[in-house]
Amino acid sequence: MVAKGNKKTKTCRVNLMRVRKAIIPAAGMGTRMLPITRAQPKEMVPVVHKPVIQYVVEEAYYSGIRDILIITGRGKRAIEDHFDRSVHSKAEKYSEELDRILDEVNIFFVRQKEQRGLGDAVRYGESFVDEEPFALLLGDTITLPPCTRELIDIHQKYKTSIVAVEEVPADKVSMYGIVKVRELDEGVHLIDDLVEKPSVEEAPSNLAILGRYILNPEIFECIRNTKPGRKNEIQLTDAMRILNTRERMHAYVFRGRRFDIGNKMDWLKANIELAVEDEELGDGIREFIEEVMKR
Ligand code: G1P
Repeated sequence: MVAKGNKKTKTCRVNLMRVRKAIIPAAGMGTRMLPITRAQPKEMVPVVHKPVIQYVVEEAYYSGIRDILIITGRGKRAIEDHFDRSVHSKAEKYSEELDRILDEVNIFFVRQKEQRGLGDAVRYGESFVDEEPFALLLGDTITLPPCTRELIDIHQKYKTSIVAVEEVPADKVSMYGIVKVRELDEGVHLIDDLVEKPSVEEAPSNLAILGRYILNPEIFECIRNTKPGRKNEIQLTDAMRILNTRERMHAYVFRGRRFDIGNKMDWLKANIELAVEDEELGDGIREFIEEVMKR
């Protein structure tokens, strides 16, 4: 540990360090998944073998992270229970994998007191990250291969805050944070501006923030300076907009697959796509889909 108040040493530590902590916000209401989410968190909705949050924790683990803070809230207790060690004596592959991961990671939980937006939720991680750059993984999104791993490698090179983005069709820009960029390296861009959920007319591009970030700890000061925005909530995108005026930020165009489990259509598509690819279920599901399509 570096002594508190030794700002110069701390800055060195931040610059040399590989990202080793992650925050996973899982406090959102899951309105778009109702009534499935009346009594269970949207992060616990299953995708083939596992609840979505298990994919997210595994992504952090396979990206080299061993300290994880999950931000929960009202009605989210099932998430904590899921990350207890299994009590089942009969070994099951995916439960075993999780138990093995749990032996190596520390998972911490904190509850957001009021639903005041993503920016407000992230704020609860300030003392956990303790002046280190950290990964932020939204708890209702799956990326394959793990996007966080790629972001951490890029962060090693640039040391800036980095936001993963992907191109979306024009009719979807209003569902996401959108970035305006200048090309730098292949796939890595300097950010000029960021806007949370703009209309098609206002959108500066079709590059959408997909729910994976590496953020430098200066973001917390920016969140404190962020006024309520869309839906009268403290938006993380608005805080990053302030951060971008203070230091350089990059956007990374992720070329893998992203599944947004926060809405029913994408959740169902994720289940079908991943079940078809599954070694245990794939053949059966493919046959079943063909059969259904003939009806
Ligand atoms: C949040 C962020 C948005 C981002 C999106 C990715 O929105 O505010 O900037 O593009 O996640 O899924 P939400 O989906 O929580 O409305």
